Amino acid sequence: MKIFISFSLFMVTTIAIISCSTQSTTTSSRTKATDNEKRHSLEAQLDANGGVDAKKETALIQVLTSNILNSITNQRDAHPKAHGCVENVDINISPNLAKEYQQGIFATPNARYKGVVRFSSGSSDPKVHDATPGSQGLALKILLPENLQKLIPDIPGEKYKLPKNYYKSADIIMINAIEEFMVNDVGSYPAFFKAVQMIKPAVGKAIQSGASKEDIAKIPGKIFFKEYISTLKPDLQAPVGRLLQVSGSSKTDNVLAETYNSWVPYAFGPKKAVKYRLTPCIKAQLVPSDAEKRDPNFLANGLQKELSGTGSYCFELQAIFHEPGMPSIEDAALPWELEDGTKPEYKTLAIVSLPKNSFAKNETCEAMSFNPSHALPSMRGIGGIQRARKLIYAATQNKRNGLSEEK
Ligand code: HEM
Repeated sequence: MKIFISFSLFMVTTIAIISCSTQSTTTSSRTKATDNEKRHSLEAQLDANGGVDAKKETALIQVLTSNILNSITNQRDAHPKAHGCVENVDINISPNLAKEYQQGIFATPNARYKGVVRFSSGSSDPKVHDATPGSQGLALKILLPENLQKLIPDIPGEKYKLPKNYYKSADIIMINAIEEFMVNDVGSYPAFFKAVQMIKPAVGKAIQSGASKEDIAKIPGKIFFKEYISTLKPDLQAPVGRLLQVSGSSKTDNVLAETYNSWVPYAFGPKKAVKYRLTPCIKAQLVPSDAEKRDPNFLANGLQKELSGTGSYCFELQAIFHEPGMPSIEDAALPWELEDGTKPEYKTLAIVSLPKNSFAKNETCEAMSFNPSHALPSMRGIGGIQRARKLIYAATQNKRNGLSEEK
């Protein structure tokens, strides 16, 4: 029996559901509480498996992978609906980047790379109406010159459907609406997926009985997530509840006007860790009319219109750096706040431009795999969640692209 269902379903938050948890604990007090438990040097955390029992973690990842593989067809298990694929993306490393930030792909100020962006809905329903509350994804693939491609390690088991340079790339995968993940580590997954699994029939039943979008949005997600939240450590319950609530009720009018966060960290050279975000250089102008918003694919329509119109669009690729006193990089749900409850400023590392007429056919991106472990070793995805994604995304892309033996 399947214990887990598709990851994306949590994003199913198709439903403005999760009116969970308005507990009063503030962000900074909870951060301080966990600091005491978790504060140890970043270098120690970057070492080996982040201090986590690798054997246990691998076993858990194997179970997760096989459960997810059981549920997928020929499309992504998460984020199956693409709003658009953008090619010929220009990534320009900041010309005045300070020496301390000159690492990996950012080693040479003013260097330029080409890339690809896939915009997607966070819903597990490939036909979801874009007006349904929930989050939106942005996956960035930075294509590298051959000398850097050679440095990217293979992912165990990953097979190639496309030319090798699409796998020997630097991928950064992001989602809008919130800055942290609503699951703090791999071990919290079973309870989380159980909650998600319970939502699906409730929503399915409502759809079948002809419920309106508004009524579906009122399905009380907090009932389903109550048990999951109760399994979390007390200091995590309020922040996780808030993340679920904000992400599940978020509405997007134009994917070019959003800020996207990586939620989980990446190494930045041997001694630093970052979380990335992409934030628009200038807010995109197009706001769809009410009539346009009745089209279930109005986000794709708007994207296409903007990119074939007068302007190119750009985002700043920024990073927040892990600092002493912040929660462990192994905990994906706690914000990277300083002891006074503030966050350090994000540093702009590059400008990511989507040129005019760069809107590509969706098939181009659909065969691609965006994986946080498509990365230089010094810039790899770190923390248990990233280690899980490395193997899970490789296995699911194999299967959906017809590359696995057990089709
Ligand atoms: C252990 C936790 C996670 C699991 C099990 C999981 C699972 C998956 C799977 C199976 C896919 C489809 C991969 C493919 O077939 O190519 C996917 C895609 C995606 N995931 Fe996750 N995911 C996890 C964590 C995250 C996190 C932390 C983020 C935060 C940014 C995220 C954002 C996305 C996005 C945006 C996509 C679509 C990427 C694309 O356009 O190809 N996931 N996820």
